[in-house]
Formats: sequence, structure tokens, C-alpha cells
Amino acid sequence: MKIGLIGNGAIAKLVTQFCAERPDRFSVIGAIGLPSDTVSVGKHLIVQSWPELRALGPDLVVECAGHGAVKAYGAKVLDDGIDLVIVSTGSLADAALWAEVKAAAERSTAQLKLPAGALPGVDALSAGKLAGLTKVTLKSSKPPKAWTGTPAEKSHDLAAITAPTVIFSGNAREAALAFPKNANVAATAALAGLGFEQTTITLVADPGVTQNVHHLEAEGVFGKLILEINANPSPDNPKTSHMAALSIMRVLENEATAIVI
Ligand SMILES: NC(=O)c1ccc[n+]([C@@H]2O[C@H](COP(=O)([O-])OP(=O)(O)OC[C@H]3O[C@@H](n4cnc5c(N)ncnc54)[C@H](O)[C@@H]3O)[C@@H](O)[C@H]2O)c1
Repeated sequence: MKIGLIGNGAIAKLVTQFCAERPDRFSVIGAIGLPSDTVSVGKHLIVQSWPELRALGPDLVVECAGHGAVKAYGAKVLDDGIDLVIVSTGSLADAALWAEVKAAAERSTAQLKLPAGALPGVDALSAGKLAGLTKVTLKSSKPPKAWTGTPAEKSHDLAAITAPTVIFSGNAREAALAFPKNANVAATAALAGLGFEQTTITLVADPGVTQNVHHLEAEGVFGKLILEINANPSPDNPKTSHMAALSIMRVLENEATAIVI
């Protein structure tokens, strides 16, 4: 299977390594990057546009770049009939972008695949939804300095936080739009479960944690779910959980194997 990437960072590197270790099944044939991406994370070429990547003949494209990349390339990839994995799910909290990408997926022969990313329990949420969910809440706790560069920096003195402090409370749409680099999991919970308005998100700056801790609770006809992940950062980007790249690898595995789980 020929894989095209959008992005040339921490996730792209891990996915590239995964594919390189399985040359009988996968080959990364190129990546779209920014002009600043001068050195490839693998042996593949970096290009600057979708027509250039499409010309290399990908069977499936993995977006691991950021919200701007989903906007720039999401619908184009699907419109050209090529399966697309979007890991920057927070971008889909933008109602206009979601409408555009969803419409492209619906009119295309290709599929839009949304991986679990760093969120546990996506299978249970989307299965539970079939009988009806009544409540989905997610609390994401990160060390105070992980919230640098977010609106929390303006509302709180992050360096002075000595106890767990709620820096945001609201729905998944508000969380994903206000914290684009930190709330992809909130968007994934919304997309898998009750939608952006009905999913309750709490973001916490916690000096007592060293990992990204996502605590998910859901209730519905199926019963009650309580899950927590203490996610290690990926080796090359402390803001990105290693699990995000692993979840993409799982999607690729399931594309190329006889038994899907
Ligand atoms: N779903 C999840 O749980 C989850 C978890 C972590 C990260 N993410 C998403 O994955 C993205 C990538 O994570 P990462 O750790 O690899 O980030 P990174 O910063 O290490 O790498 C991002 C790469 O994308 C490139 N890029 C950025 N904008 C681009 C654009 N418009 N077009 C082409 N290339 C572009 C950058 O130059 C860089 O090479 C994050 O921005 C985030 O949105 C999702």
C-alpha cells in the first residue's frame, strides 16, 4: 500500500518508521510539508502541493500536520477518490470545514477515516451511540507548561500554578476551537459520541502530572464507561501523545491485514 503523508513532524516520523519496518506491505511515497520542512523524516520526497503528491500515486493519505492542512487538502484528497486519515480532528469543530470535508467524503468513492488518536474508548463510544448515549465528559490534564501558547496563558499565571487548576470548561466545539493544538481528543470524543455541543470538556493544568491524562466518562443504554489514559509524549514532540501515532499505525494495519480488530 502506497502511503502519502501531509506533515513532516513527530507523527510523520513514527508512521514513516513503522512503514519502513514493513516494506512488504507499506511504502511512504511522499509528504506534503511547509517550505520550512527542508529535511524529510524518511527517504521520501517532500512536496508542496496536493497535485505533486497525487502524481506519486498514493493509495491512502495520512494527515498529520495540523488544522491548516485539513483545510488546505482534506476535501481535495477525497474528491480525487483517495482514502484520507485525519488526525487533526479538532479542525472538524469548524462547522464550515466539517461540512466541506463530510460532503467530499459522501460524494467520493474514498473513505474519510478518523483514528482514535490519543483518546481511549472510541470503539465503545461509537458502539454505545448506536443504542443511544446520554452523557459524555472528558477531562484532560497536562502539566502547566504544556498549556503555554494557549488561551490559558492569558487567563492564568501558568508558572505559579501549584495545585490542579481548571483552565477551561465548556463544550467540545469551544475547546477544540480555542485550543487547536491541545484538544484534538475533545473533538474525537465529540465525533465518536454525542457531537460537539453535547460533549462536556474540562481542561486542567496539573503540576502533579508528567503525562497527558485523558479521563473519559460516558453513559447510555449500554451502561457506563470510565476510562483513563496516562499518555507518554512522543519522542520528538512533547505536546503530542505517542498514542496518536500508534493509532494511525493501527488504521494502516487494519487496511492491510486479513483480520481487523
Ligand atoms: N487526534 C489526536 O489525538 C492528536 C494528538 C496529537 C496531535 N494531533 C494532531 O497531529 C498534528 C501533528 O502532530 P505532530 O506531533 O506530528 O506535529 P509536529 O509539529 O511535530 O509536525 C507537524 C508537521 O506538519 C507540517 N505542517 C504544518 N502545517 C502544514 C500545512 N498546512 N501543510 C503541510 N504541512 C504542514 C509542519 O511543518 C510539520 O512538519 C498536530 O498538529 C495535531 O493537530 C492529533
